[in-house]
Amino acid sequence: MSSAAPTLPASSSEPLRLGDAFVQDPHSVYARLRDEAPVQRVALPSGLEAWLVTRYDDVRAGLADPRLAKDFRRLRAAAGIRPGTGRPLAQDSLSSHMLSADPPDHRRLRTLVNQAFTPRTVERLRPRVEQIAAGLLDALPGHADEDGVVDLLEHYALPLPITVICELLGVPEADRDDVRRWSDDLLSPEDVEAVPQSAGEFAAYLGALVATKRSDPGDDLLSGLATATLGGSGDGDDRLSEDEQVGMAFLLVVAGHETTVNLVGTGALALLRRPELAERVRADEASRGAVVEELLRHDGPVNGATLRFTTEEVEIAGVRLPAGEIVLLSLGSADCDPRRFADPAKVDLERGGAGHLAFGHGIHFCLGAPLARLEGVVALGRLLERYPGITLAAGPDDLRWRRSVLLRGLRELPVRLG
Ligand code: HEM
Repeated sequence: MSSAAPTLPASSSEPLRLGDAFVQDPHSVYARLRDEAPVQRVALPSGLEAWLVTRYDDVRAGLADPRLAKDFRRLRAAAGIRPGTGRPLAQDSLSSHMLSADPPDHRRLRTLVNQAFTPRTVERLRPRVEQIAAGLLDALPGHADEDGVVDLLEHYALPLPITVICELLGVPEADRDDVRRWSDDLLSPEDVEAVPQSAGEFAAYLGALVATKRSDPGDDLLSGLATATLGGSGDGDDRLSEDEQVGMAFLLVVAGHETTVNLVGTGALALLRRPELAERVRADEASRGAVVEELLRHDGPVNGATLRFTTEEVEIAGVRLPAGEIVLLSLGSADCDPRRFADPAKVDLERGGAGHLAFGHGIHFCLGAPLARLEGVVALGRLLERYPGITLAAGPDDLRWRRSVLLRGLRELPVRLG
């Protein structure tokens, strides 16, 4: 247990505040919670209060439990969010998407895009993903400072997924920096005051973008969705409202890059710290799939938690939660629970990550998992092939993590290419 980690409050009615110490070292806090308080009341930096669930079995069961719902508009309509608990998102159109929907809406929304993300469809993207990765790798030496240090996050882990998802969706290249900034502001704000403004700008931008796709469709996924809407059978099943089109665009852009950046960034860090494993990944292309799964399990991008709320009284690990409570299911904690994964801190290729929850579980299981896996395998494998002498240029205390309790990712990753 790190000395900087917050101590547990004496009474369960007093929330545990998850602040900067938690962001820097969530795993020691999780270890303690799993043993002492597997369902713990917590307060997030945003002011949101919730119940944090940390053991594997409870998290997995919670992800598949229909009494734990995602459509927070239902919660607001039923009871209103209690003062001081904050709101998940300020713009309704941005939350009109499948990850904030419950059945039957969820199925309708997911069915519309399912086909674009099957392993077979995604495999067709491989040559383009390889090409983007190769271009970024070629350019890396040009980004080195006078000490030969390059920020691998800024110049590799970040641009790769954002380029892939924006090309797939049809987001113009000139707009990608704005998209990245809005998305960052919403998902891991350095300044929570900036959130409503960024949400408003992002919603307005996406509204204009989907309107353009409707009037002047191209050969991209957002145009396909707009066309499907206009060409629908008229029975309502395959139609998206305007808010839903914006919500879908928002979810795909944000989910399609925020997490994958961290798979590549945090994954590269784990490999740079384990030269023997890195050497195996470099030499043995066939090992890369299993390595990516283990990296996802060991320190995955949705490390903090995913949100749900109780639609009725639910008992988890002996704690009774009344209806209307917000629940955080911690995927990162579940995936490092020694009750499920022996010696969880070890990146173990034989285990190959089997059974991990990094992509969730149940009806909201990550739609983009095949794409994320492809990007992870290509990005990490090609990096090590191309720069076999690459080393970390920072000590553990010099690494800064993004200020988010829900997602886990580095702010920068300084390396020497060797
Ligand atoms: C859902 C993780 C990459 C699109 C989810 C969920 C998780 C997750 C944990 C479920 C959240 C919940 O149950 O509350 C990840 C990780 C990724 C990744 C770790 C990268 C390593 C992607 C990519 C896309 C994507 C590349 C591309 C479009 C989605 C969508 C959903 C989702 C649309 C919502 C599915 C639904 O509600 O049915 N992801 N994701 N993700 N992800 Fe991913």
